[in-house]
Amino acid sequence: MIISKSNPVSLQIQDRLLLTQSGSTKHTYHLSLDIRNTPITFKVGDSIGIYAQNDPVLVQHLISAMRADKDAPIIDPRSGAEMSLWDFLSRKANLSRITSSFLKLFYAYETAHDKKNELHRLLQTENKPLLSQFLSTHDPLDLIKEYQGTQTPLQELCAQFGPLLPRFYSIASSPKAHPDRLDLTVALSTFTHSGEQRFGVASHFLCHLATPRQTPIPSYIQSTPHFTLPEDGSTPIIMVGPGTGVAPYRAFLQERLATHATGKNWLFFGERNRESDYFYKEYWEELVRTNKLELDLAFSRDQKEKIYVQHRMQAKAKQLWDWLQEGAYFYVCGDAHHMAKAVEATLVQIAEAQGQMSEEAARAYVKSLRTEKRYLADVY
Ligand SMILES: Cc1cc2nc3c(=O)[nH]c(=O)nc-3n(C[C@H](O)[C@H](O)[C@H](O)COP(=O)(O)OP(=O)(O)OC[C@H]3O[C@@H](n4cnc5c(N)ncnc54)[C@H](O)[C@@H]3O)c2cc1C
Ligand SMILES: NC(=O)c1ccc[n+]([C@@H]2O[C@H](COP(=O)([O-])OP(=O)(O)OC[C@H]3O[C@@H](n4cnc5c(N)ncnc54)[C@H](OP(=O)(O)O)[C@@H]3O)[C@@H](O)[C@H]2O)c1
Repeated sequence: MIISKSNPVSLQIQDRLLLTQSGSTKHTYHLSLDIRNTPITFKVGDSIGIYAQNDPVLVQHLISAMRADKDAPIIDPRSGAEMSLWDFLSRKANLSRITSSFLKLFYAYETAHDKKNELHRLLQTENKPLLSQFLSTHDPLDLIKEYQGTQTPLQELCAQFGPLLPRFYSIASSPKAHPDRLDLTVALSTFTHSGEQRFGVASHFLCHLATPRQTPIPSYIQSTPHFTLPEDGSTPIIMVGPGTGVAPYRAFLQERLATHATGKNWLFFGERNRESDYFYKEYWEELVRTNKLELDLAFSRDQKEKIYVQHRMQAKAKQLWDWLQEGAYFYVCGDAHHMAKAVEATLVQIAEAQGQMSEEAARAYVKSLRTEKRYLADVY
């Protein structure tokens, strides 16, 4: 059987443990998915795509606000399949966002003048900023509650929800070391909506809602062809991965050990606080103790000024440059918005200073590492 986005396999959580210690300002979990007796195959560096379920409390609130029956039949507008309203809202619908099509539907069926006028105003072309503000501060539940008197046909209302898309997680274990399981490192995503604390859909599902050894999790492998170990096990590797960005490197190191690869390994890991957020500490430190890993740590909130992985790279510029001259592969994984850009800029500075190059030549050097597939990024 070929597993794919449209043909996922059902997995269960075997174990789940909180990696961050009490007192931490975040919640990051280690999960092991049971892949025994499944056709799942993957290589280190791949990610898994999972289909989450929405929080049943939110689904119940929506059904109550819709004044509908949870067993009411709904046609999923994307697959054409018939299912209960409960299943549709739990597994198929994005319950976080509304678009103007929701407002157009309510406008079409609204009979109360004041409400209809409100919707009309929001939908005027000249009121685009007002509309954007409304869409970014309201979710479907807010809207349905606000226009509860509107008799929108249930099927039409359901057709307005966007699809609940899969989420991706880097695989944190090697199939050569652990053929029966697939590990993940998942940070619980939290945010505030209308003054209330909310959780991200998939991280909440994986970290809180799914019951280990019970809840089915439709999953498939999202392969990353180049983001993997060098074929030659003697090649040195430099891995930069703050936060959950460290996940694939746990897999890389397990695999290097399982295959008796002789190449040198160097990890730059960063998190907020050493006391509470130093994930997989025992694993890294055992590797350091047995001379299998060079480790540099950056705890950003243990002192007044921020210390990040790129500061640690800069402090070891000479050694890092030497490794690159020996043919090392350079990996970066984690936050795409700020971290990955800062790491790349630091690498350019290191090339400039250590390789005695102009800034332009240093940029071209880093670009050439990318072209040679020795600078590999998996950022999100
Ligand atoms: C290749 C790849 C690998 C990845 N690997 C990992 C990994 O190893 N570990 C990991 O933890 N993550 C990883 N991610 C990120 C992961 O896929 C998810 O994006 C992450 O877990 C958040 O998803 P979520 O469903 O929990 O949050 P979502 O529900 O998608 O919400 C995400 C954010 O959107 C905003 N938001 C959502 N709803 C609202 C609302 N109603 N009002 C206001 N704001 C809102 C909030 O800021 C929220 O934090 C990876 C991503 C990619 C692409
Ligand atoms: N959209 C964004 O701007 C943004 C930013 C960060 C994370 N995220 C997302 O949040 C999720 C969870 O993140 P995570 O738990 O993996 O950890 P994370 O939030 O990426 O944080 C890990 C470490 O990286 C540090 N960091 C922050 N900015 C940095 C920068 N410019 N350069 C280098 N390091 C930096 C953090 O420090 P401090 O927190 O102390 O600054 C922390 O010590 C991921 O999905 C990630 O993509 C999004």
